[in-house]
Amino acid sequence: MKVLVYSTRPSTRETFDSANQRHHHELVYTEARLAPDTAALAKGYPAVCLVGNDIADAPALDRLAGEGVQLIALRAAGFNNVDLPHAMDLGLKVVRVPAYSPHAVAEHAIALILTLNRKIHRAYARVREGNFSLEGLMGFDMDTKTVGIIGTGKIGAIAAGILKGFGCRIIVSDPYKNAEVAKFADYMTVPELLAEADIVSLHCPLTPESHHLIDAGTLADMKKGSMLINTSRGGLVDARACIESLKIGHLGSLGLDVYEEEEDLFFEDLSDQILQDDLFARLLTFPNVLITAHQAFFTKTAMDNIAETTLKNLDDAAGNSYPNAVGSESIRLKK
Ligand code: NAI
Repeated sequence: MKVLVYSTRPSTRETFDSANQRHHHELVYTEARLAPDTAALAKGYPAVCLVGNDIADAPALDRLAGEGVQLIALRAAGFNNVDLPHAMDLGLKVVRVPAYSPHAVAEHAIALILTLNRKIHRAYARVREGNFSLEGLMGFDMDTKTVGIIGTGKIGAIAAGILKGFGCRIIVSDPYKNAEVAKFADYMTVPELLAEADIVSLHCPLTPESHHLIDAGTLADMKKGSMLINTSRGGLVDARACIESLKIGHLGSLGLDVYEEEEDLFFEDLSDQILQDDLFARLLTFPNVLITAHQAFFTKTAMDNIAETTLKNLDDAAGNSYPNAVGSESIRLKK
């Protein structure tokens, strides 16, 4: 199948070309991000391949459909960047990679926790400058802490298991119980979890119900000095409220791999530009805030799995089969 691959980076091309030796699709790469004004690039392509930062809103979808596109192959699990009801109205099929490496994301959440706890980000900079003082670097033993995991699906369950291995007490919240997790963790409501946890890690999807799950009110419900980790979706956390909580010393530390306004920042080298997002710039000033630019998924294992499943989705679509279609249940969630 002839496919235009939007938002291509060198690593995308390398991984997809390697996997495509087994699938033989005609992949054409563009660095352009999908938006209404770049949709015309897809003229003559029956399929486009997108990531989370491509904007597949109604105007972009209208233009894609007008250019003859019939299939959107997401090389991602999340699909909140696609206006699914509109895609359905246009008769566009949308397929995705439901799971590629839950371990990659869970392990990144643990990396953020350990780095913030032991202040590795600060120690790294200090030692390189010849400053061998330990002042301000004191951490805590993980096995003395209670960790709250919100969302015990694929990623949350693995994160919970790793943290159990550190000796932490694990408390969890999810409307659906995971029987494996329930063997070693206590299920409770989100307010109960926030009141008890020393570390809170978010692993639930972004839905209208979970938007700003962590806001001024829920931050106030968290224990003073606790740590918040978000590797899920930026919209789960009200960053402005976090700044206020950090300023008064209530929120103890914050680790983010995702940010609500990340579309204008992440995945680009902006190092020679003036940062325009004042909220993000303020977050960067805190010594107890650690931000990575949506890299939790970015392991060799995960990238290989993403390429393989995406190309398999294209194979299936060529045979009019869509086992990884984003279904009607998801559409209900998004509305
Ligand atoms: P999953 O679908 O396996 O699990 C999500 C769990 O969250 C489900 O058990 C669901 O019942 C639960 N949930 C839904 N709403 C909830 C709420 N309001 N409170 C508590 N639990 C709730 O999803 P998976 O694969 O574990 O992924 C979790 C999230 O990780 C994704 O939604 C995505 O946003 C994020 N992600 C981030 C990546 C990154 O690179 N930073 C990469 C891949 C996923």
